[in-house]
Amino acid sequence: MMAPLTYLRGSNAGSTSEQKDYWNAYIGDIWARVLQSLDFKKDGVIVEVAPGGTDKIGRGLRQIGWAGTMYVVEPHKDSLEKTCAAYSVLLPDATIHPVMATLENASLPQRYDAIVANHPLDDMIIGTTLKGDDFAEFFTDHYASPPSKTTLFWNKKRPFLSSALDRTVDAWSAVIPRAKLTVIAQYKSEFFSANGITEPDYFAYKALRRLSARFNGTTPSPTNGIQDKERWLVITDVAR
Ligand SMILES: C[S@@+](CC[C@H](N)C(=O)[O-])C[C@H]1O[C@@H](n2cnc3c(N)ncnc32)[C@H](O)[C@@H]1O
Repeated sequence: MMAPLTYLRGSNAGSTSEQKDYWNAYIGDIWARVLQSLDFKKDGVIVEVAPGGTDKIGRGLRQIGWAGTMYVVEPHKDSLEKTCAAYSVLLPDATIHPVMATLENASLPQRYDAIVANHPLDDMIIGTTLKGDDFAEFFTDHYASPPSKTTLFWNKKRPFLSSALDRTVDAWSAVIPRAKLTVIAQYKSEFFSANGITEPDYFAYKALRRLSARFNGTTPSPTNGIQDKERWLVITDVAR
């Protein structure tokens, strides 16, 4: 295992391709160490939720030599294709199944070894309030969107966020009991704090804490590189 990368302040909010690449590698490296510290089978069946076109978890899996079967659940077509294309290069010995659906509607095996997601909850909450074209508009070029567009959507949907939070917690509560291991990272977004948007972090963290309380969640043991340990949720022993 390589030496942990160093957290670079601002890289989370960075927009150049070098900054994005460094950030993806940094987070992927943390995923590798977190999964390595858990009872994580190198050839198991896993589900990744809402990769959003990124490859952070795949980078972590490559680092630990994982080569199992993965269901990638992502409703946005271009993002799903981008992540799956990256995984076919990063994880050539794995079997990757694209699942173009929301978590609520995804057709998945009855049981799996792990369900994992990197920073999914804010987007799932806002996504729950968006229909058709609005959903596609919000998530298309998500990372290149001006902060004003993101702010506008979050402000417009303010009255619906509490029920959207409930629905997101329900969606996860339906799948967590089917997994031996659940890991969700929902670290604080520098993009949102840099742009004065508080709702996404607030509601996402609330959802994470609720899931933790419902399923006796814990936090990962490696501390190196993890800025805010309580924003990483580990759930074990539900499906046995
Ligand atoms: C920006 S990504 C999340 C962050 C990304 N995993 C990362 O590490 O940078 C957001 C993705 O969530 C997806 N999404 C929104 N609602 C969802 C849901 N209910 N189930 C699964 N994915 C969802 C969107 O399509 C979008 O591509």
